[in-house]
Amino acid sequence: MTSSRTTRKANGGAKATKAAQSATPTSPLATALRTVSCGELTAANVGQEVILTGWVVHRRDYGKLIFIDLRDRFGLTQVVFDPERNADAAAAHAIASEARLEYVLRVEGVVARRLPGKENPSLATGEIEVEARRVEVLNPSKVVPFPIADHVTADEALRLRYRYLDMRRDTLRKNIELRHRAVKYIRDYMDERGFLEVETPILTKSTPEGARDYLVPSRLYPGEFYALPQAPQQFKQLLMVAGIDRYFQIARCFRDEDLRADRQPEFTQLDVEMSFVEEQDIMNLIETMLIGLIETTTTKHIKQKPFPHIRFEDAMDRYGNDRPDLRFDLPLVNLGALARLGTFKVFHDALEKDGLVKGLRVPGLATATRKELDELTEFAKTHGAKGLVTLALLPEGPRSPLTKFLSPDELNDVVRHMGGETGDLIFFVADDAKICNDVLSRLRSRMGEKLGLIDPDEMALCWVVDFPLLEVIEEDGKERYHATHNPFSGMKAGEEALLDSDPLKVTARQYDIICNGYEVGGGSVRINIPELQHKVFQLLGLSEEQITEQFGHMLEAFEYGAPPHGGIALGIDRLVMLLAGGETIRDVTAFPKMQNGQDVLMRAPSPVTEEQLRELHLRLREPEKRS
Ligand code: AMO
Ligand code: AMP
Repeated sequence: MTSSRTTRKANGGAKATKAAQSATPTSPLATALRTVSCGELTAANVGQEVILTGWVVHRRDYGKLIFIDLRDRFGLTQVVFDPERNADAAAAHAIASEARLEYVLRVEGVVARRLPGKENPSLATGEIEVEARRVEVLNPSKVVPFPIADHVTADEALRLRYRYLDMRRDTLRKNIELRHRAVKYIRDYMDERGFLEVETPILTKSTPEGARDYLVPSRLYPGEFYALPQAPQQFKQLLMVAGIDRYFQIARCFRDEDLRADRQPEFTQLDVEMSFVEEQDIMNLIETMLIGLIETTTTKHIKQKPFPHIRFEDAMDRYGNDRPDLRFDLPLVNLGALARLGTFKVFHDALEKDGLVKGLRVPGLATATRKELDELTEFAKTHGAKGLVTLALLPEGPRSPLTKFLSPDELNDVVRHMGGETGDLIFFVADDAKICNDVLSRLRSRMGEKLGLIDPDEMALCWVVDFPLLEVIEEDGKERYHATHNPFSGMKAGEEALLDSDPLKVTARQYDIICNGYEVGGGSVRINIPELQHKVFQLLGLSEEQITEQFGHMLEAFEYGAPPHGGIALGIDRLVMLLAGGETIRDVTAFPKMQNGQDVLMRAPSPVTEEQLRELHLRLREPEKRS
C-alpha cells in the first residue's frame, strides 16, 4: 500500500520533489508517515531503518555531503545526505539541496554512529545521525519573517503576529510543556485529595473582583447582557451550598483592566473551594501543593519552608507593599518621630499631613555618582514622589542635603536608627503613606537587582495575612468603603461588632500567597450567614435594590443551610511564569494578547457587520479615537 499523502511542491524544488514521489518504497516501514520522533534515537538504534518527519532547522551544504537538522516537538536529529551511496540517495541529495529552512520533510534512512569527534553531547540524539535513503518534501515554507532561534531579536508584535512560528522555538515550546506538566500535577494533586473538578458558566452575571466586566449582548433579550466571569467566585460558593464540599477548576477568567507583564485580559486560575475548613486547612493544602509542584517541575530551591506568614501591616511597613519579594532583605525603615528633628520642611510637612517618612539603606552604594543619583531621583518622581533625599555615608563624613537641616548629633541619631554604616547610601521619601511606600518598594526592587541580591534559582514564598476587610476609596469625588479583596471574605471571630463601630478595623479572614514579589494567589474563609453578608453589601454602599438585583441569589442560597466554607484561587499563568523563570505571562501563554489588548494574530478585537449589530439590538455610538 502506498501512502495517500499529498505533498506540495516547493518553488524551484519541483524536479527534486518529483524524483522522491516516483521512488517506490522498498521497505514495509516506508508506508508509515514516521516511525520515530526527532528526539529519541541514540547509539542503541545504530543500524535501524527509520522514518523521521520534521522541520528543517539548519542545512549545511558541503557540496558532496549535505547535513540537515530536522526538528519536531521532541527534539532534533541530524540527517546526512550522501549522493554517492546509491540512486535513491542521490535523488534524496538533490531534494536536500533544494530544501530551505522550515520546510517539512519526511526522511527514510538508517541510523549511523557519528564519526568520532563529531558527537554533540548537548543533544539527546548527539551520538548518531540518520543516513538518508529517501526524502520527500511534505510542505515547503516561505522565508520566515524572523529567525526561529532561542535568542530572539524580533520585536514581540511580529512574533505574536506569527505566533505559530514563534512557538517552534525551544524556549516557548518548553514553557508550553512546563505549563502542561504543572497543570497535570495540580489536577492529580487535587484529585488524590478528593476534589471534584466542576465547570462553571462563562456566560453569566457580573461578579466583582475589582476589574471591569467583559459583556456579551443577548440576542434573545434586547438590551440585556451576559458578563464573562472575572472569577467563578459565586458559583464555587453555591457549589458549597450544594454540598459538593471539595471543588476545583482550572478556570478561565476575564477582566477588562490595564494590562501589565503579569496581567492578561483572559487568564487561568486554579480555583478551589472547600467546606468545613479554617484558614490553615486551605493554606496547608496549597502550601504542600506548591512545594511539590516546584520540586517536581523545576530545579529551583525554595527559600523557606514552611512559608513564613507576614501580617499585611508588617508587609507594608517593612517592604512597602503587600507582595514582598523575600529573595533579598533590604527592609524599609520608618523614621517615625526622628523625622521631626532639625528644620527639614519636607519631612515635617509629611508628618503634619499624616504622611510617612521612610528610608531605605543600601549597603555599599555610598560612592554612587551624581548621575546615578539623579537617575534614581527621576525614577522616584515618575512614580509620584516629590523628590528623593540621599544620605551617603562616606569615610570622610556624611554627604546629604540633610546636613543643612540637621545638627551632626541629630543626623547621627537618624543614621543609627537606619542601621547605617560607612559605605552605605540611604534614601528617604516623605509623602502620604501610599506614595512613600510605593516609591520605596520600587526602589527596593531596583536595588535588589542592581546589587545582584537575586538568585534566579530561588523561590521565596510567603503568606500575607490579616488584611483589613475594607479600605476607603474615592469615587466621583466621594469617599466610600471598598472590599480590599472581594465582598464575600469573612472576618475574624468577634470582630463583627466593629462593622458598626469602626469598620476599617475589621480584619478579613483573607490570605494571599506571594512568590518572588508576585501575588500568585489569594483566598479567604467566606461569610455564610445571610444577615452578615447583607450588612457587608450595605457597608459597601449598595442600595437594597442593588443588593437584591446583583446578589439576591447568594443571600437566598445562604438561607438554605450554607456550610462554613472557604477557598483560594491561584493564577496559573503567573505560577508557570515563575516556574519557568520568565518575566511575563505572555511567555507561558500560547496565544497571548499584546500589552495593548490586541490579538494581532487573529486580529481581534475587530468590527462586526451592521447585520450582527442589528441582531443584537445594538447601535454604535461615534467610536472614540483609539489612543
Ligand atoms: P484574585 O482576584 O486575587 O482572587 O485572583 C486570584 C489570582 O489570579 C491571578 N490573576 C491574574 N493573572 C493574570 N492576569 C490577570 N489579569 C489576573 N488577575 C488575577 C493572580 C491572583 O492572585 N475569586 C478570588 C479568589 C478567592 O477568593 O477564592 C479571586 O479571583 O495570580
Ligand atoms: P527642595 O527643598 O525641594 O529643594 O528639596 C531638597 C531635597 O529633598 C531634594 O534632594 C529633593 O529631591 C528632596 N525632596 C523633596 N521633596 C521630597 C519628598 N517629599 N520626599 C523625599 N525627598 C524630597
